Amino acid sequence: MKSNVYIETFGCQMNVSDSERAAAGIRSAGFGLAQSIENADVIIFNTCSIRAKAEQKVYNRIGEVRKQRGAEQPIIGLMGCVAQLEGEEVFKQAPAVRFVAGTGAIERLPSLIESAQRGGRRVLDVGERAAANADVLPMAERHSEYVAFVPIIEGCNKFCTYCIVPYSRGRERSRPASDIVKEVRQLASEGFSEIHLIGQNVNSYRPKTEDGLEGFAGSTPFSRLLRAVAATGFPRIKFTTSFPRDFHKDIVAAIEENENLCNWVHLPVQSGNDRVLRAMRRGYKVADYLEKIEAIKSARRDISTTSDIIVGFPGETEEEFEDTLRLAERCQYDSLYIFKYSERPGTPASKLPDTVSEEEKTRRFIELERLQMSIQRPRFEVYVNSEVKVLAERISAKSLNDLTGHTSCHKVVNFRGTVDLLGKIVTVRVTQAKEHSLYGEVSN
Ligand code: 5AD
Ligand code: SF4
Repeated sequence: MKSNVYIETFGCQMNVSDSERAAAGIRSAGFGLAQSIENADVIIFNTCSIRAKAEQKVYNRIGEVRKQRGAEQPIIGLMGCVAQLEGEEVFKQAPAVRFVAGTGAIERLPSLIESAQRGGRRVLDVGERAAANADVLPMAERHSEYVAFVPIIEGCNKFCTYCIVPYSRGRERSRPASDIVKEVRQLASEGFSEIHLIGQNVNSYRPKTEDGLEGFAGSTPFSRLLRAVAATGFPRIKFTTSFPRDFHKDIVAAIEENENLCNWVHLPVQSGNDRVLRAMRRGYKVADYLEKIEAIKSARRDISTTSDIIVGFPGETEEEFEDTLRLAERCQYDSLYIFKYSERPGTPASKLPDTVSEEEKTRRFIELERLQMSIQRPRFEVYVNSEVKVLAERISAKSLNDLTGHTSCHKVVNFRGTVDLLGKIVTVRVTQAKEHSLYGEVSN
C-alpha cells in the first residue's frame, strides 16, 4: 500500500488546475489522496508568489502543520510559483521541506515523492515540462463536480514591470483547440454545467495549429476558440483573465451570438493614469481601455465587467491615483479587486524607488474600495425582486439550509435550497442585495 498524499492550494485558478492535474498523476502512480492534513503521509503545498504576503503564507503554513502533526511528521513538498522561483532557496528558508517541484514538474511529482520517501532530503526539480506531452493534460481530479477549469494558455509574455508571473510560469503556450474542445465534450458527458477557460491572458491564445478552429469565424484565434467551444452546446462557458491590449470586438460579437458564452468579462486595468500604465508597461492607454469597456457595455446583452487595480505603484502621485478613481467611476465595474503594490524581487519595478508609504497605500486602497462600494451597491440592488439563473454549486459555508452559486454574470447568489438542487441551474428570485452577493429564494 502506497502512502496518502494531500495537496493544499494557494493562489489563482491556474494553481487550482495544476493541483487537479498533480492529483490525477499522483493517483495514477498508485498513491492514495488524503482528505485532510491529519491523515496524510505526504503534504504538498501548491504555492503562489504574486505578492509578498502570498509567498509568506506558505512558510507560516508549514510551521502550523508541523506543530499540528507533532510526533508524526509528514513528508512536506512545495510545488507552484514559489517552488519555481526560489528553487534551492526553499530548503534554506524551510529546512523541513523535502522536495521542491517547479511549475514544469507536475508530471514528475510521483517520482519526486518517491525520492523523498527513499530518504532524499533536498529533492529539486525546476526543469521544463516534458516536451513530448507539453500540451496534453491528463484527466483531472476536479475541484468541483459542477464547475471545471480548462486551461487554454499557460505562461505570460507581457512582462508588466511589477509582475512575477512571466518568471514563475514562463512563456505563453497555447493548447490546441481540438484538445480543448475534446475536454469540454468530456466534461459535458460527465455532467459538468459550467467551465472556465483559464489562462493568465486567455485572449492572447495563439495555438501552433488550426486543429479544431477550422470553420469558425473571428479575427482572433481566441474568438474562434470561443465559437468552437460554444458550438459544443456546453451549458455555461466563462473565461478569465482577458488582457486589455488583446481584447477585440470579435470577442463581444462571439458572446452576443452564443447564449452559452456567459455575460461576464474580467478585464484588469491596473491603473487609470497613462504615465503609470506606461511605467507598468501595460501596452495601452486609458482611452484605449475605455473603448474596450464601451464595446462590452454596448453589447446587445448585458455583460458585467470586473477588474484588478494596483494602488501605490512606485512613483504613483496623488493626482495619478485620482485618475484611477475617475476611471473606476467611468467603468462602473460590477466588482473590483484592489491590490496594494508589492515589490517582487527581480522585476523591473523592483529597481524603482518604492515611493508610496504603506500607510498611503492603505489610504488609497480604502478610498478606492469605498468608491467601488458606492458604485457596486446600486448595481446589486437592481436585482432585488427580479429573477436570476444560478448554478447551485455547493452548500453555503454560512448556513446548512442555503446553497450558493453564481449567475451567468458571475455574481454570487445564496439561496434557500436543498442538496437535490446541486448541479442544476435554478431560477432564484432575489430578495436582498448584499455588498458582494445576492440573496434569494428558488422561484417555482
Ligand atoms: N503587487 C500587487 N499586485 C499585483 N498583481 C500582480 N502583481 C502584483 C504586485 N507585484 C495583481 C494585478 C493582477 C492580479 C492578479 O494581481 O492586479 O491583475
Ligand atoms: Fe502579470 Fe502582466 Fe502577465 Fe498579467 S499580463 S500575468 S499582470 S505580466
